[in-house]
Amino acid sequence: MTELRRTPYTCHVFVCTNDRRGARKSCADGGSPAIRSALKKEIAERGWKPRVRLSQSGCLGLCAQGPNVVLYPQQIWFSEVTGGDIPVILQKIEEILASGWE
Ligand code: FES
Repeated sequence: MTELRRTPYTCHVFVCTNDRRGARKSCADGGSPAIRSALKKEIAERGWKPRVRLSQSGCLGLCAQGPNVVLYPQQIWFSEVTGGDIPVILQKIEEILASGWE
């Protein structure tokens, strides 16, 4: 039987990398796999692991506004993300870490 526990991460970043290969709009159309890779590299280089975890996700339901990147448990969504938005996302994560969120 499962056990209810708190998340072990201060911030869990989900990047939708769903790819419908043009059949319908999906986050991969906007380059989300590259956004995921860039965020993952920055998180590692900044020494934020293990407090910050990045996971790729399937569809988050707001495909028309993709690429989508979400931060939980803070309930923060970034939509229509481009590579140029990566510093903004990193800044928000840094603020979360500095805020003492546990
Ligand atoms: S494909 Fe990314 S939110 Fe649906």
